[in-house]
Amino acid sequence: MVLLYKKRDVIGIQPMIMERKFPTWHFSMLNDKLRNEAIKEAITYYGVDNKVVLEIGTGAGLTAIYFAKHGAKVVYTCEMDEQLYHVAVKNIKENNFENIIKIYHMTSSELIKSGIMKEPPDVIFTETLDCGIVGEGFWSVAKDIRTIASSNTKIIPDIIKQYGFMIESEEIYNQNKISGNFNGIKLTHINDHSTTTYFPIRYNNFNVKTLSESMKINEYTYTTLEHGIRSSKFIAYRTGICHGIISYFQARMGPSIISNDLRDKGHWHQAFHPLQEPINVKAGNTYIMKINKNGSITIVSEKG
Ligand SMILES: C[S@@+](CC[C@H](N)C(=O)[O-])C[C@H]1O[C@@H](n2cnc3c(N)ncnc32)[C@H](O)[C@@H]1O
Repeated sequence: MVLLYKKRDVIGIQPMIMERKFPTWHFSMLNDKLRNEAIKEAITYYGVDNKVVLEIGTGAGLTAIYFAKHGAKVVYTCEMDEQLYHVAVKNIKENNFENIIKIYHMTSSELIKSGIMKEPPDVIFTETLDCGIVGEGFWSVAKDIRTIASSNTKIIPDIIKQYGFMIESEEIYNQNKISGNFNGIKLTHINDHSTTTYFPIRYNNFNVKTLSESMKINEYTYTTLEHGIRSSKFIAYRTGICHGIISYFQARMGPSIISNDLRDKGHWHQAFHPLQEPINVKAGNTYIMKINKNGSITIVSEKG
């Protein structure tokens, strides 16, 4: 058996014989009705009739087809995955939108550099968010958007808020680390490969003791230059051992949101950001944590 990790979240366990390169998470993503409805609501809210749209990341073509169906004049869309590109080309043709949707097997940087688009688009859409926001190339997509957008371009999503809370959960922490020895056998070198940024988990499947309220820990837009490092303040409401932070995002889609909030049952996992070493926290004390550009967290200070 092999565990297939791809860019978005964990994808499942499949027999080795079935291992394949296709990003299989696209099935669950396309079946995520909350996500799809929010995208449609954003398109209706902004209105795209006769507008020029740029989509970064075509996937199977669903969202480009939504834009075309809602009256866009032209939809430029690029997909860097070759298999998905071919899938989307066929889907676009099958839905008779090949005159409106111009699809390219390119990255967004390549498309922008190519000069194919002569003018800034009226609307830029991208849904390239992994569970912890930045893992699917957020910073390079943001740079591309800043290169091509004009001050009148509507960007969907326009803001992505990230929330998080401290937890005690040896079970989650141990998804990424081994501790102790195995009947005298030392295996700690595997910890050289532990994830230091964040990794996807289904929060509700684990034993967890929450240690703080859920707070807004970060805010992203595609047009703000560098976000740098942010600090977040958590006040512990229980005494315990903090293994890290659970985070989830809400990306605004017009009047609606797409989200991996643990109260919703969507296709995204939640993100767990482990501390390098667990820390003892005391109810009532304040903990300042740094949220780094790559999504890793570090404890900065504790105040009683
Ligand atoms: C999460 S899917 C969304 C697909 C489709 N827009 C939808 O919402 O159904 C994102 C897709 O974007 C592609 N992608 C990510 N970054 C890209 C980039 N910079 N340029 C082109 N494609 C990109 C990925 O390969 C993936 O297929």
